[in-house]
Amino acid sequence: MAVFARRPQDPDWMSKVVPSATELFEVLEKIMSIRLGNTSVEHRRGQYPQFTLGTTFGGGQQVRPSAFCHPRPHDPVIEMILDSVVLHRLSGNAGRVFQTFAPDLHGHYCSMLHDLHKVKPDLPHPWKASPFSAATLNVGRQTITYRHRDFQNLAYGWCSLYAFGKFDHKRGGHLILWDLGVIVEIPPGCLALVPSAVLEHSNTTIGKDETRYSFTEFTSGHLFRWVDNKCSQNWRFGLELFSTFEAWCARLSQVIS
Ligand SMILES: [Fe+2]
Repeated sequence: MAVFARRPQDPDWMSKVVPSATELFEVLEKIMSIRLGNTSVEHRRGQYPQFTLGTTFGGGQQVRPSAFCHPRPHDPVIEMILDSVVLHRLSGNAGRVFQTFAPDLHGHYCSMLHDLHKVKPDLPHPWKASPFSAATLNVGRQTITYRHRDFQNLAYGWCSLYAFGKFDHKRGGHLILWDLGVIVEIPPGCLALVPSAVLEHSNTTIGKDETRYSFTEFTSGHLFRWVDNKCSQNWRFGLELFSTFEAWCARLSQVIS
């Protein structure tokens, strides 16, 4: 149901990848704190700023899948995220762990993306080797989530999660899976794959001088439905379920007679 993977046995992982990721998140945090000033950023998952990129469907998009929108001043930041070698490596590791532990589900994600991009080649896919269509970088100095479910994600799927920052993972920043009654340590640079749509989850707090950021990848369940419906909302099928006035009258007369 969920995977908590140890860090890869790569000598660079703790000496280069994790410190570089932390530095990247610190830069993103500074950019956001300059842009936002003292403005509080509260949303249903918590009180911290975030960057979301990639392709989605369902979060207000009515007709077809689309890219997450950003204010134009964020363009250079999004470019920086996409050019980041360290995020590329993190995403690659998440994809490989996903494929190792759930090869059929991984194949399902990849074939949906393949079919989607055949029809909509311009839709963004942040990291080409990733099975996920979208990613969020939570860049609050203390990214601590409220209890929530990511109900737009594929219900029987996974989302990936890494934590970074300078915090003691034995004392705080744990992932709580409320439905399972499980609390898991998430050390910086370790990967979790969880069914975030169906399991309610949140984090424990960290020390007031500590920092914790997170990097998640996910795919909207609506994208799978849209591709399954031959890349349409299947309006024609839905409309045919309504009766015409004549058909309704004919049925009524049958019932009455
Ligand atoms: Fe979540």
